[in-house]
Amino acid sequence: MSLLENKKIVLGITGGIAAYKCADLTRRLREQGAIVKVVMTKGAQAFITPLTMQAVSGNPVMDDLLDPAAEAAMGHIELAKWADTILIAPATANFMASLSQGLAGDLLSTICLATSAPIAICPAMNQQMWAAPATQRNLATLLADGHAIFGPGTGEQACGDIGAGRMLEPLEIISQLQRVFTQPLLNGKKITITAGPTQEAIDPVRYLSNHSSGKMGFAIAKAAINLGAKVTLIAGPVSLATPVNCQRIDVKSAEQMLAATQQACLDSDIFIACAAVADYAPETVAENKIKKSNETMAIALKRNPDILATIAGQQDKPFCVGFAAETQDVEHYAKDKLSRKNLDMIAANNVAISGQGFASDNNALSVFWKNGQQDLTLADKETLAYQLLELIEQNYSPK
Ligand code: C5P
Repeated sequence: MSLLENKKIVLGITGGIAAYKCADLTRRLREQGAIVKVVMTKGAQAFITPLTMQAVSGNPVMDDLLDPAAEAAMGHIELAKWADTILIAPATANFMASLSQGLAGDLLSTICLATSAPIAICPAMNQQMWAAPATQRNLATLLADGHAIFGPGTGEQACGDIGAGRMLEPLEIISQLQRVFTQPLLNGKKITITAGPTQEAIDPVRYLSNHSSGKMGFAIAKAAINLGAKVTLIAGPVSLATPVNCQRIDVKSAEQMLAATQQACLDSDIFIACAAVADYAPETVAENKIKKSNETMAIALKRNPDILATIAGQQDKPFCVGFAAETQDVEHYAKDKLSRKNLDMIAANNVAISGQGFASDNNALSVFWKNGQQDLTLADKETLAYQLLELIEQNYSPK
């Protein structure tokens, strides 16, 4: 049985040339057993007629916010309540802008505001319009609001341009839509993640730290939330926005990070140590700013606690995942860390290769666990985060 069997789908069509594919999309949704009601904007009707959509959906097409024919003239509320999901295909730049602002100027955007059903958006526009900062800003807002974005695809466009902005093909849309109705991979799992550097105070104005940006840890937190996990993100000093629905605890030193992590791990299923914790901290912190005097100076350092090893050494430990930033012999050092720190999995990256690691948006990882390994090739950190979480889910066993 298809996951779309008997699912009630409001198909919202906005005014882009890709609207011509909606007849086929509707036919294929119905092949999967879905019940489709179509709502069209005025712009959409310039590209495909309501009559066509009525014929293929088997239901009257709606386009008017104030439709006296709808029960009590409140068609938008009825449809918003009726829908199991709202699929917007194609979604124009204008529609994305209006939805991201919460405007309700026509029937379709009003339904989107009035529904509690998931909303899936299939953008379709010229590649330059897709790349425009305003569209990307609106996209970020729509993602942060929890809407699913399918595509867009890349390729030749109706206007002759080549690039990102094509609406996905109907079969691709259907395969993505099925995911809306599947239980997310990490549903209900509690995950603690450390991210970013630590700062170890020397005196009131100086500290020891490193170049970690926190991007990988934040990407993992965001992906884990999207996959249904409940995430506590313990962050060293970084300038990154908190992912939506994430509990974030800001810390500075390794000692503070350890305390927050121990507390959060009490009821965590999985612990992912992504932070670049300083290995050493000044033995003492000067009470006042240290004045310059001699030509050289020495600061005595003491070893910081190993947060990951501490958690992984506990009796009732969560599934522990470490990171290893190496500059040589990556596999050897990673496997050594896996067994020495009693980890369940380790993700190693070679920070000596430019264009990946630390402050970069991209990374490549070699992941090792007790009886296996997998290379995750160079990709943006968000993509890698999903791939890593999939590997974690496949190897996870409850504590
Ligand atoms: O031993 P190394 O620092 O290379 O290990 C890296 C892994 O251990 C990372 O997952 C890092 O977050 C974690 N770690 C830690 N506390 C430390 C040092 C490293 O949690 N003091």
